[in-house]
Amino acid sequence: MKVSVSTISLAELDVDLLIVPVGSDSLSDDLDTLADAFGDALERARADVKGDVGDSVVLYPEEGTAKRIVLVGTGDGSSESSPGAVLEKLRKASALGAQTATRVKAETVGIAVPPGDMDGDEAAQALVEGFILGSYRFDRYRTDDSEKGEPAQRLVIQTADQDKQVRRGADRGRIISEAVCSARDLINLSPDEKTPVLLSKAIEKSAKKHGYAVSVWDKELIEEEGMGGLLAVNRGSEDPPTFSVLEWQPEHARNSRPLILVGKGVVFDTGGLSLKPTKNSMDSMKCDMSGAAAVIGAMEAVAKLELPIYVIGLIPATDNRPGQTAYVPGDVVRMHSGKTVEVLNTDAEGRMILADALSYASSFYPEMVVELATLTGSAFVALGDFVAATMTNDEKGADERLEAIVSAGAASGDRVHPMPMFEEYNEQLKSTVADLKNVGGRGGGSITAAKFLEHFVDYPWIHIDIAGPAFLDSARGYHKAGGTGFGVRLLSRFLQDYAEKNR
Ligand code: BES
Ligand code: MN
Ligand code: ZN
Repeated sequence: MKVSVSTISLAELDVDLLIVPVGSDSLSDDLDTLADAFGDALERARADVKGDVGDSVVLYPEEGTAKRIVLVGTGDGSSESSPGAVLEKLRKASALGAQTATRVKAETVGIAVPPGDMDGDEAAQALVEGFILGSYRFDRYRTDDSEKGEPAQRLVIQTADQDKQVRRGADRGRIISEAVCSARDLINLSPDEKTPVLLSKAIEKSAKKHGYAVSVWDKELIEEEGMGGLLAVNRGSEDPPTFSVLEWQPEHARNSRPLILVGKGVVFDTGGLSLKPTKNSMDSMKCDMSGAAAVIGAMEAVAKLELPIYVIGLIPATDNRPGQTAYVPGDVVRMHSGKTVEVLNTDAEGRMILADALSYASSFYPEMVVELATLTGSAFVALGDFVAATMTNDEKGADERLEAIVSAGAASGDRVHPMPMFEEYNEQLKSTVADLKNVGGRGGGSITAAKFLEHFVDYPWIHIDIAGPAFLDSARGYHKAGGTGFGVRLLSRFLQDYAEKNR
């Protein structure tokens, strides 16, 4: 989608549809201004417009150049709302406008940046994100054209002040939400079209298109490197595993040691021999590579934004299936780090492949590692499907790290919430035969999973369990049913903030 910024007045902006966010607390002022520009139609609409979140009213103005106007509510944007909450309301309002745009087949759409004390660039970014994310459709497998519906082709961000920052914000919004959409596409792909080898091909294509580098290890190399965890999970599979190393190293990087992003790439999780109960619990398990998708999307955004930081992405990929040769409960696996793990549940496979990626990450002497995974159902049970659980280890700067990821979450809309990492949880991981076992007890499942991974890191590390928000069964706000691309906006924001702080 083409995105531009214009300072042409609302009344003179020539678009098929003009989206105007209105607040419930500022409604009367908002409508007065609009009535000045568009006349009577606005006056007469007063009764139908409340300005609450989720409200929308379509108008056909007699004056002005816009063919239609849609007023979308942003709710009460007053005092107690945090800046993050206000941006989230703008995204939702903009997505509602995008739905109208698709419905009325608008080709060119304008969005007015609402006046307010918010930074113009943040507001513009949120509006573009809401629009592009809200316009997203996954129609690869639809054969009926009428289902397809064309989203808008051109988006104009209308702003009163001539401000370079607004332009920058709109660009960022476009780059980042397009990266979210590529992550969504990968998640939504039918599992048989994303075997590890096919996924690595998709990464190579993405790298070429966006300008970062990638190298893909095949099974032989994975064996040579001794990635016992990844190989164990792969044993029940017909398809060989891959390990992809993505790299963005600009000339003037502000960090000499890389920031590393690790993403769980289980392309389908049946549970293996500890088979998931088929009823409902396996249906969405093509989403088990959402961590990998987030890393790929983030690399696309980082490269397009040309962030001056050195970033590496690591993606271990395999499916997890039962089979004649599948790994079994009781197997003791020698991991990449040299530690041994007793497998007591083959469905706890994510930690097996991530542990190898995390211990390999150590060889880069990373500044920090951020790892994302659809790791545990417990994360969803604890926090629901719109927040991810986050944990960090006790290495230096733990508090700052946690604060940085939580605030990147609030600003980006990919929210994360911290969970404890008390030493006591390690009790649950003691094995009678090996260094560790791969499952804890019934309680605190997302925490024991993180504690397991902690045994394989020796650098500052942030863990993000995205099992809740990675995939939705039905549409919500600016998300359609299916993969949400959770993590792309979070990582993009986190890395931008990191680049800013290290000027
Ligand atoms: N991929 C699942 C976690 C998951 C559940 C992701 C729901 C998305 C939605 C993971 O591999 C898994 O099976 N975890 C087990 C761990 C258990 C065996 C310790 C779980 O959460 O039940
Ligand atoms: Mn599993
Ligand atoms: Zn899994």
